[in-house]
Amino acid sequence: MRKKIVAGNWKMNKSLPEALELVGAIKTLSYSNEVQLIVVPPFLYAKTLVDELSGTQVSVGVQNCAKQEKGAFTGEVSASMIQSVGVDYVIIGHSERRAYFSENNQDLALKVDLALANHLTPIYCCGEIIEERNSGNYFEVVKSQISEGIFHLSATQIQKCIIAYEPVWAIGTGVTATPEQAQEMHQFIRNLLKEKYGEADASSISILYGGSCNPQNAKELFALPDVDGGLIGGASLVAEDFIAIANSF
Ligand code: PGA
Repeated sequence: MRKKIVAGNWKMNKSLPEALELVGAIKTLSYSNEVQLIVVPPFLYAKTLVDELSGTQVSVGVQNCAKQEKGAFTGEVSASMIQSVGVDYVIIGHSERRAYFSENNQDLALKVDLALANHLTPIYCCGEIIEERNSGNYFEVVKSQISEGIFHLSATQIQKCIIAYEPVWAIGTGVTATPEQAQEMHQFIRNLLKEKYGEADASSISILYGGSCNPQNAKELFALPDVDGGLIGGASLVAEDFIAIANSF
């Protein structure tokens, strides 16, 4: 059966002392061991947090990886480097990467391949911008993001992926998708998976919701049949809020 997952995307926030303080606080709080908790700090602190969290149930992810394997790519960090420091997850195709760093579905497909080749679990993000929602085009947009980014994978590979649906208009805005909007899109994504890989594989893949998810709305979202947890931005920067969300299943 698919896993319940709550991942905290810290984005470009926190100094090292603040990062240590946050994971220190997370470690003192209790949550169900049925939930896979993941913290996703900036690259610079990933190794330190892997050490800090060893022996706990909390895993560490990073927010991006290079689309190249290795070599002369100044400023980039490869999937194999990420794996070598004990990180388990990598967010691929977050809307901020797509919008501000011009990453397209083809780039992301390469990153997904490198992540899987290096035994990292990709958290593959998709989601429409407000204009696409308003024009009614949002299913088509998400379908392209999914089919071009991950549908080249084999059934065995796709089962190692996590998908995050994050409507861009809900990210950092305080406007959350309604339960109806979230369920409708999650079900649509699961149906795409079903058509491509069959019922059994489609129902074993976790699909997370992201976009202004907080301790007040998480319960309602996580109760939806096709929502398996959350990719949390702002609320993951406060230990009590992050754990309250993890306790919302
Ligand atoms: P938010 O961000 O929770 O701050 O809206 C979610 C995300 O970007 O993953």
